[in-house]
Amino acid sequence: MYYLSIEGKQKLKGSVSISGAKNSALPILAATLLSQNPVSISNLPNVADVKTLLKLLENLGASYETTQEGIKIDSSTVNSACANYDIVRKMRASILTLGPLLARFGHCEVSLPGGCAIGQRPIDLHLKALEAMGAKIQIEQGYVIAKAPEGLKGATIIFDKVTVTGSENILMAAALAHGVTKLVNVAKEPEVVQLCEILKNAGVKIDGIGTSEITIVGSYGKLLPLQDIKVIPDRIEAGTYLCAGAITNSKITITDVIPKHLEAVALKLQQMGFGIEITDDSITILPATKILPSDIETTEYPGFPTDMQAQFMALCTQADGTSLIDERLFENRFMHVSELSRMGASVKLKGHSATVEGHRELTAADVMATDLRASSALILAALVAKGTTKIHRIYHLDRGYENLEGKFSALGAKIERLEE
Ligand code: EPZ
Repeated sequence: MYYLSIEGKQKLKGSVSISGAKNSALPILAATLLSQNPVSISNLPNVADVKTLLKLLENLGASYETTQEGIKIDSSTVNSACANYDIVRKMRASILTLGPLLARFGHCEVSLPGGCAIGQRPIDLHLKALEAMGAKIQIEQGYVIAKAPEGLKGATIIFDKVTVTGSENILMAAALAHGVTKLVNVAKEPEVVQLCEILKNAGVKIDGIGTSEITIVGSYGKLLPLQDIKVIPDRIEAGTYLCAGAITNSKITITDVIPKHLEAVALKLQQMGFGIEITDDSITILPATKILPSDIETTEYPGFPTDMQAQFMALCTQADGTSLIDERLFENRFMHVSELSRMGASVKLKGHSATVEGHRELTAADVMATDLRASSALILAALVAKGTTKIHRIYHLDRGYENLEGKFSALGAKIERLEE
């Protein structure tokens, strides 16, 4: 086991290149189950979640080789439709294999992902949509047993809630379905849009990409000719580094990004007093003369992302006043509060709202990562804290941040990965 040792009060400078998006790489890998041919994927982030899903696909019978730009994966050789518990429990996004496996094989068994630190995270909307497409779904001994022997049928699906992986699962199922599927209240996250573009590039007739209403004409079970894919940049990794510049009041640049994907985050930073300079593939953050408190409400894209809530809470501890944060998407996404409090933050929780006191002089402590984004908030706090902070259980961070200490060190942070 490793921990991160971070010496605080260091200014940052320079630029950092942003990796491919974990939350796009995962549905893309699942979508290779729909492909009749091997698929080259570049800009794939070297993070634990991607490795876990690749292992799952290999267990199902896929094979892949590492190439100069990324990987070349052949899932046409997949011969099993059972995604077992020991892998799915490591990464709930394995549920993204449910839609493609069922559409391709007419049956599948996928372990229920179980909850996680940020909430119960049900998949009822995924299952309801597949039933509307003609699937028979049973839950047995912690597994989703899904059957659609004649294949899935096109249907009209209205999602009760906006669900990112739910939208992705059903888009992939609909791509192979018999007939036309209309999805209403679909997620509009850039990762969902990239999946739609990939299906379109494979010849799938799909309308409404990027809107909350998508119509998709299925291939009647025929596998698709997926084309080469370049994973879009990770907007959450990008936002995390912008917050690192903000909390240390440094000027830094993030490169290889799509600024449009960070509009809500950049606007929030500007409202807090930071300067933002944008080019077509980079964003520079400039120090604030005074960090202003903020009112944040997390919501679906293009609104303020829940995956940036913890990072902004760390930043708000340094604001000139009290900030309010309203977490609207998950019921328990304040796991970082107790750890930030141990470093001197003062945060009052009431239901899904947090009141964050500003002007807090943070001090180093031994802290524990609990979930991916909460852990990145602890790094940000450590960068500005007095003394050397130790962050334990950093396997949470390795799930979604590529070369973390390498990137932070290159920006001037005093950060080391040490053995417990
Ligand atoms: C995706 O999770 C992301 N993960 C999450 O990022 C992100 O926080 C979340 O979307 C919201 O943006 C991936 O893309 C792999 P949801 P997902 O289904 O799809 C409820 C990270 O840090 N819901 O959009 O699981 C659910 O409980 C991760 O990278 C149901 O009630 O989230 C939540 O309250 C964390 N029933 C809300 O909808 C369902 O069937 C949004 O969840 C599905 C979801």
